[in-house]
Amino acid sequence: MLTTNTEFLQAELMDVVRLFGENVPDIAHTFLHVDDTFFDTVIIAGREFCHSESHSCANELEFKRYAKRFSKLAVYQALSTVTGQSMPWGALTGIRPTKLAYAEQEAGRDFRVLFAKFGVSRENIALVGAVLEAQRGIYAKREGDADLYVGIPFCPSKCTYCSFITADIGRTGQYVNDYLTALEKEIAACRGMFRRLKSLYIGGGTPLVLSVPQLRRVLDAVLPYAGGIEYTVEAGRPDVFTEEKLRLLRDYGVTRICVNPQTFNDETLVRIGRQHTAADIVRAFEQSRRFGFDINCDLIAGLTDESVDSFCESIDRAISLSPENITVHTLCLKKGAKLKERESYLCGAGVSEMIRYSRRALLAAGYVPYYLYRQKYMAGNCENTGWTKPGKACVYNVDVMEEITDNLACGANAVGKKIFPNEGRIERVGSPKDIPTYIQKIEEILATKQKLYG
Ligand SMILES: C[S@@+](CC[C@H](N)C(=O)[O-])C[C@H]1O[C@@H](n2cnc3c(N)ncnc32)[C@H](O)[C@@H]1O
Ligand code: SF4
Repeated sequence: MLTTNTEFLQAELMDVVRLFGENVPDIAHTFLHVDDTFFDTVIIAGREFCHSESHSCANELEFKRYAKRFSKLAVYQALSTVTGQSMPWGALTGIRPTKLAYAEQEAGRDFRVLFAKFGVSRENIALVGAVLEAQRGIYAKREGDADLYVGIPFCPSKCTYCSFITADIGRTGQYVNDYLTALEKEIAACRGMFRRLKSLYIGGGTPLVLSVPQLRRVLDAVLPYAGGIEYTVEAGRPDVFTEEKLRLLRDYGVTRICVNPQTFNDETLVRIGRQHTAADIVRAFEQSRRFGFDINCDLIAGLTDESVDSFCESIDRAISLSPENITVHTLCLKKGAKLKERESYLCGAGVSEMIRYSRRALLAAGYVPYYLYRQKYMAGNCENTGWTKPGKACVYNVDVMEEITDNLACGANAVGKKIFPNEGRIERVGSPKDIPTYIQKIEEILATKQKLYG
């Protein structure tokens, strides 16, 4: 579909081509670099487009960064002209918009100029500006700052759209106790791996699918780190909520939980394999409120056969519950989701309208956007946005999205990060995805972790 004379540009350019869907004509791209000038020639359907930009680079890394940036822009502009389409995020792919905006600011430039050049819509430029504003007071790069993540990769059943590495506890229940033993070791080993802990996050999967004694083991392991900091449990699906588990969370000092509807439409809930109804969501929400937690609700735009009206109603119902945070995801079908096997290509129709509505309604209800990120294969080329009531932004989400603090990630498939702010680099360490392998390799995992953070 796309040929280029420069191998290191191929994957990045394909990301741009993919934005325009399946039926893109063949593209021939040629790159040339002479005397600090980057030349890109793009031929599509017999039309030739030439693009040149001058920039002097300090080193090879910077040269590659700018070569990618300019060639993506050249291909995007050519495709946009030929197809008559423009994308909400223009030629921006493969980088978090807010990270790029911060990088521009740190270099003393207004990020809006670069974003406009890249064809990012005015609404999205304003969205990024609002996110940066909401992150004030949380966004800080300090060596030794860390967040602790604990992954519980078990769920009551697998939702059709989900590509997270989580398993149906009915099939993997026999591993839970050994998993928790390995996890306890890993959590204990995190002591001494940070200077200041900013937040705790027990995520999933669905942590509340664990039995009370199992949940208590996790909370006990995390207890030495708790107190005085934000402490989230991604409690998750309303079908596993009980008074007893919620009380336990409160007694252990948890400050924030997730009660995730995804949608309030009962028919969609059946279609996506969630074994609960909209009424269960409201019940779990009200039950959780009585324990005084801050609450986050996740919704997804673009779920199978869901109409724009139905999604808008879900937004309105979430707002009417008045949670502190509402996260609006755009459906993203990656390898691993059951749905992917049936739907080879995403239909973006309507999704952009859903996202537009969510922004209007959430702003009108007093929420502000406080983090956002994009992934490949997102319906309508949209984004995921975390919304918050003013002053209630989740520290953990900001830190993880902006990659400004070390992430001490524990559990199967957890990806830990060590940030070197003065060198401008990040090292990552990933644990095995598969639960039995994680259990078996725990000593090796601890040694690797010790090397990175110790
Ligand atoms: C790791 S899941 C854990 C949440 C919890 N297990 C639940 O389902 O309530 C975090 C969130 O990712 C979102 N998510 C999962 N798969 C997705 C997909 N394919 N596209 C968009 N969002 C997705 C959902 O909104 C989900 O609540
Ligand atoms: S969306 Fe949540 S409950 Fe559903 S499979 Fe994914 S992690 Fe599990």
